[in-house]
Amino acid sequence: MKRSSMMNDLSSGIFLELAKEKAALQADGTDVIDLSVGTPNIAPAQAIKQTIADEAMKDESYIYAIDDLPELKEAAAQWYKRRYGVDINASTEVCAVLGTQEGLAHCCLPVIDPGDTVILQDPCYPAFFTGAAIAHAQIYRVPQREKNGFLIDFDDIPQDVAQRAKLMIFSYPNNPTTAVAPPEFYDELIAFSKKHDIFVIHDNAYSELAFDGLRVGSFLAHNGAKEIGAEFNSLSKSYGYAGARLGFCVGNSEYVSALKQLKSNTDYGIFLPIQKAGICALQSDETVVRETAAAYEKRRDILIEAFAAHGWQIEKPRATMFVWARIPEKFGNDDVAFVKQLMQATGVLVVPGSAFGSCGCGFVRIALVQSEQRILTAAKRIGEFLNT
Ligand SMILES: Cc1ncc(COP(=O)(O)O)c(C=O)c1O
Repeated sequence: MKRSSMMNDLSSGIFLELAKEKAALQADGTDVIDLSVGTPNIAPAQAIKQTIADEAMKDESYIYAIDDLPELKEAAAQWYKRRYGVDINASTEVCAVLGTQEGLAHCCLPVIDPGDTVILQDPCYPAFFTGAAIAHAQIYRVPQREKNGFLIDFDDIPQDVAQRAKLMIFSYPNNPTTAVAPPEFYDELIAFSKKHDIFVIHDNAYSELAFDGLRVGSFLAHNGAKEIGAEFNSLSKSYGYAGARLGFCVGNSEYVSALKQLKSNTDYGIFLPIQKAGICALQSDETVVRETAAAYEKRRDILIEAFAAHGWQIEKPRATMFVWARIPEKFGNDDVAFVKQLMQATGVLVVPGSAFGSCGCGFVRIALVQSEQRILTAAKRIGEFLNT
């Protein structure tokens, strides 16, 4: 069998390579501390789990769901109002997705023909790239530079690219850089999009994981956003729902309806117990989400302090479940070599920044997905490695 050329465009290389090295180390008995993949390890609240269990016992739960439950869309719309102050029409402006990974992988197809230009951040979350590759788009990447606090600068987008681009995909709080965009950024984004007639997808996966009292809003709360864009939002991180696979696309009704049409051709909807428990999550008070955010904040503080004590100074992220760190000076700019050496010497696995785009070179992404104790053990091992 000959794979399609699109398959070559899908990223996987370095992730596969590291997974193999990890498996080999484990087979040799190494206690690997995996701080690479952003899988949340904080389980959903009791009421959410109980709803799944109860609904899963009902025979009628096993039909094809086909569509999103109206109550689920209503719960998402109310959540947007309560949380961000954004008015959403539940019947025309919400489409549930099988996790935002699925939504993002398909997000270009409603607007992109092969060869059309899509603008992405560099570095960016790999699913944005996947979405563009699946649609056979031309990709233009805008650097997120450290000196700009990892925000993109619209002046970095050449005129001819802006004129031909059909879609931009953005995300703040950002994975991997953890950058948070100020409100003015979104106003500039909307003005840029209107000027050049570019549709905008914003991924707001981490709005609930903000620290030190920071409140992150929605792109849709900005004037004109719904005219030119839509936002993806996920229950994975906020409600510990990652394995259950539920997220939303909310916003521009034409886009939402096109995405729905696409999805009606690619899946038969989301397992009903997952939808029902999703309603329970969205209607629960904020305590659960605040507790989850507090747990990540505590892990962040422990990691930053312990790494600093062992000789690696890293800036504190203001949001997300990641730490974005420049690699220690003596390793130069080669993040891949650093990650491999680190894993062999310490059993601690992190992701090289260049896996998210060439502008990630010289950085690593560390996921706060282990217990406080394991983070301390990782820091100690890393300290020994750095000081030898
Ligand atoms: C920025 C971002 N968007 C989307 C996702 C996918 O989340 P899910 O598919 O679980 O909703 C992730 C997961 O790590 C992410 O980091």
